[in-house]
Amino acid sequence: MRIQISLCLLLLCYCSSFFGLHSILVSGRCLDSQKLLLLALKNDLKFDSSLSTKLVGWNQSVDCCDWGGVTCDKAGHVIGLDLSNEFIAGGFNGSSSLFRLGFLKSLNLAYNSFNSAQLPSGFGKLTQVRYLNLSNANFEGQVPGDFSLMKKLVTLDLSSSPYYSLVLENPGLKMLIQSLTEVRELLLDNIKIITDGYHWSSVISSFLPNLQVLSLKGCGLSGPLDSSLATLKNLSFILLDENTFSSEIPESFANFQNLTVLSLRACNLSGSLPKKIFQIPTLKTIDLSSNVILKGPLPVFPENGSLENLVLSYTEVGGTLPDSIGSLPLLSRIELRGCKFTGPIPVSMQNLTRLVYLDLSSNLLTGSIPSFQSSKNLVSVNFYQNNLTGGIPSFHWEGLNSLQFLDLGYNSLIGNFPESLLTLQSLEYIYLSNNRLSGQISKDIDVSSYQLRDLDLSSNKFVGPIPGFIFKLPAISTLTLSKNNFNGIVDLDMFGKSTKLYALDLSYNDLTVRVNASKSSFSSLSELNTLKLASCKMQELPYLKNQTRLMMLDLSDNELSGEIPNWIWEVGNGYLRFLNLSHNKFSSLQKPYTFPFLLDVLDLHSNYLEGDIPIPPRRVYHLDYSNNNFRSSIPVNFGNVLTSTLFFSISNNKLVGVIPQSIRNATSLRILDLSHNTLTGPIPVIGNLKDLQSLDLSVNKLNGSIPEELASLRSLSFLNVSYNHLSGKIPQGSQFQTFTELSFKGNKELCGPPLKKSCNKKRI
Ligand SMILES: *[C@@H]1O[C@H](CO)[C@@H](O)[C@H](O)[C@H]1NC(C)=O
Ligand SMILES: *[C@@H]1O[C@H](CO)[C@@H](O)[C@H](O)[C@H]1NC(C)=O
Ligand SMILES: *[C@@H]1O[C@H](CO)[C@@H](O)[C@H](O)[C@H]1NC(C)=O
Ligand SMILES: *[C@@H]1O[C@H](CO)[C@@H](O)[C@H](O)[C@H]1NC(C)=O
Ligand SMILES: *[C@@H]1O[C@H](CO)[C@@H](O)[C@H](O)[C@H]1NC(C)=O
Ligand SMILES: *[C@@H]1O[C@H](CO)[C@@H](O)[C@H](O)[C@H]1NC(C)=O
Ligand SMILES: *[C@@H]1O[C@H](CO)[C@@H](O)[C@H](O)[C@H]1NC(C)=O
Ligand SMILES: *[C@@H]1O[C@H](CO)[C@@H](O)[C@H](O)[C@H]1NC(C)=O
Ligand SMILES: *[C@@H]1O[C@H](CO)[C@@H](O)[C@H](O)[C@H]1NC(C)=O
Ligand SMILES: *[C@@H]1O[C@H](CO)[C@@H](O)[C@H](O)[C@H]1NC(C)=O
Ligand SMILES: *[C@@H]1O[C@H](CO)[C@@H](O)[C@H](O)[C@H]1NC(C)=O
Ligand SMILES: *[C@@H]1O[C@H](CO)[C@@H](O)[C@H](O)[C@H]1NC(C)=O
Repeated sequence: MRIQISLCLLLLCYCSSFFGLHSILVSGRCLDSQKLLLLALKNDLKFDSSLSTKLVGWNQSVDCCDWGGVTCDKAGHVIGLDLSNEFIAGGFNGSSSLFRLGFLKSLNLAYNSFNSAQLPSGFGKLTQVRYLNLSNANFEGQVPGDFSLMKKLVTLDLSSSPYYSLVLENPGLKMLIQSLTEVRELLLDNIKIITDGYHWSSVISSFLPNLQVLSLKGCGLSGPLDSSLATLKNLSFILLDENTFSSEIPESFANFQNLTVLSLRACNLSGSLPKKIFQIPTLKTIDLSSNVILKGPLPVFPENGSLENLVLSYTEVGGTLPDSIGSLPLLSRIELRGCKFTGPIPVSMQNLTRLVYLDLSSNLLTGSIPSFQSSKNLVSVNFYQNNLTGGIPSFHWEGLNSLQFLDLGYNSLIGNFPESLLTLQSLEYIYLSNNRLSGQISKDIDVSSYQLRDLDLSSNKFVGPIPGFIFKLPAISTLTLSKNNFNGIVDLDMFGKSTKLYALDLSYNDLTVRVNASKSSFSSLSELNTLKLASCKMQELPYLKNQTRLMMLDLSDNELSGEIPNWIWEVGNGYLRFLNLSHNKFSSLQKPYTFPFLLDVLDLHSNYLEGDIPIPPRRVYHLDYSNNNFRSSIPVNFGNVLTSTLFFSISNNKLVGVIPQSIRNATSLRILDLSHNTLTGPIPVIGNLKDLQSLDLSVNKLNGSIPEELASLRSLSFLNVSYNHLSGKIPQGSQFQTFTELSFKGNKELCGPPLKKSCNKKRI
């Protein structure tokens, strides 16, 4: 029986090997000693067995060479161990049995969470290791000196996240690598490498002659970027982002014959774009973005070059886009956001058939939008904030079935809405705001499977009714149609099925918005955060009591009247932050009411509100009560609740009494307007309102003199105290001369420049 089985096994092995399944033959030979070491390792390691996929399956009934993550040689020695992503959280120290797996050639513990533990000594015993990967394993502290004993290392990856920082100080970089001369891939991202000046590059270039991959992102390296690196002829990947080199890119970097990736994002690079580097035939990716003083035009690109990713956003690089950009057949990602490009988008870009991602936003581009008909893989197109003109030809977008993102906002585009966009079901974001687009959007289509989430058509000249499909978009989240000439009647309930609606803005059109004040499907939209219906001829407040997430509500410039209901302060579960009810016909606030404590902006101006001044919540930063009929005096402590307030106006009411001293405590104020009331008494000494820019106390009955301190308020540039009963001499501060507006007139007893009336010495 036994013989039969082993014969059978033998045959199986034979057959397997015959069919090329060699691995089955070499496994099945796990040495007991190796198995015991692995089991001891598993026993020590703390890992989450519900998430682990490899360690959890290590058990005696299976040959250890078949365990997940384990590789053996023919003799049954463990030569490879890959425990990356195993949710290991500790249980690893210098006496770990791992360090007795003396045959290991490859070890990967990446993406675990050793919880800021120190890296133990012991790695030096693993003298056969060629591949060591401890990246993102959340180790911290100094890298142990015995790492330098792993003399066969070819790949060393100790990259960490910025939050768990390893350090190379003592030993430093030189001590670590000076005997690791075989290394071809060195990745030490976010390790704090403490060296003086640019020694790091000469150290690397003298000890690692075979280096192909160098990744030292965010290592705290300083500059200048040194040309010694250029002696490493085989360097293929250079990733040195987020260090502070503060220098130019050395010319000699163009000598890398095999350069594939050059990434130097946010390194404070200066000088001009190194043109020659773009001529390297192997170059696929260049990222020099966020070097805000890096200048220069783009080079002429080599015909049929291999560039795939061109990333220069947030630099001073500018000039015209060269036609040769269209001769890079593999180009798939162009990120030139926030640069200084001028002139037209080259027509040659129509030839970029591999283009996936195109961002030319925030430049100074002019001319018309070319066609991207042949770039069938386009996912994202962003021309936001340029000066593009002409129409948006509909056929340009036909068949771009991968397109997800389109931003043409803030240009000077004219003509109609490109209706072909409405055939692209994958589109998630359409931004066309702030152009001069016009006409009616008439197309009605079945949008039940559309992905559209954000649609922004604001600040254009669209006319006609809001197209019907807009109310049926199943995924719509942000809909901004404000500042057009849309007309007709909109019943808010028409949005009742847009269950993902987060923000709705229909303001400033020619719409009449109707609501059902008692019960409505709109009020059950549970995601709604922002509702802006300014100037929508509304006569009734929508029912918003059930909106638990609403934080921004603008119902200004409507025909709302009567009491402001007290439930409005509970909208959004009391988390309302912005409320604008200005330019309506409200006459009072329903009592009792409690303002929500997070309210930042409260705008009630231009209503018919009467009675006492409502006491605002403490952190309000914009408070406008102007143009109402408030009749009380200003409460004594009013200034003490305005400590965070930047803007406060209560002009054009019927306030009486004095300006309370507590206004001195409103130290954040930039604009204070108490004009056009019947306030009496003196102007308080407010020399401590250091940020005050504008003070209007005109048309009241204030008396006494103008406090000297006003003349020394550094930020003040607008002062109007005209038409009061002020007396005495106008203070002569040097500040007053730079004011944009200064008015003292209509105070009979006031004297001195700039008034014509000079001060009679006797009267002072
Ligand atoms: C051992 O591992 C194998 C494969 O992962 C599994 O099928 C078996 O149930 C395990 N045995 C024990 C005793 O855990
Ligand atoms: C190392 O860890 C093992 C198992 O967790 C523990 O028994 C041993 O005491 C630790 N050794 C040191 C030096 O911390
Ligand atoms: C290290 O391991 C991680 C996770 O498996 C992997 O993403 C990374 O590319 C590896 N690093 C190197 C240099 O192979
Ligand atoms: C560069 O790589 C080539 C091919 O892999 C190799 O023959 C050569 O020795 C390497 N040069 C250096 C300086 O390491
Ligand atoms: C050039 O770089 C590629 C990787 O991009 C690598 O496979 C190749 O071996 C390198 N050649 C030389 C001569 O270094
Ligand atoms: C950036 O580099 C310039 C020199 O090119 C230097 O004057 C400046 O201080 C550097 N900025 C920072 C933040 O290091
Ligand atoms: C461009 O390069 C590709 C691949 O290297 C090659 O097949 C093609 O012939 C080249 N075309 C031109 C016009 O040089
Ligand atoms: C696109 O490429 C073709 C063939 O390489 C070329 O003839 C044509 O001039 C290019 N078009 C533009 C607009 O550059
Ligand atoms: C944009 O172009 C228009 C007309 O071509 C021009 O009047 C306007 O000044 C330009 N704006 C900017 C910011 O360049
Ligand atoms: C308001 O909604 C209720 C219940 O859905 C309905 O009966 C009533 O007719 C609606 N009122 C208006 C003015 O639409
Ligand atoms: C508001 O919510 C309450 C309780 O969640 C519910 O009973 C009521 O029907 C809702 N009102 C509207 C108009 O959706
Ligand atoms: C200003 O605030 C301080 C501290 O809160 C307070 O003690 C003082 O009474 C306030 N001044 C006035 C005039 O209310």
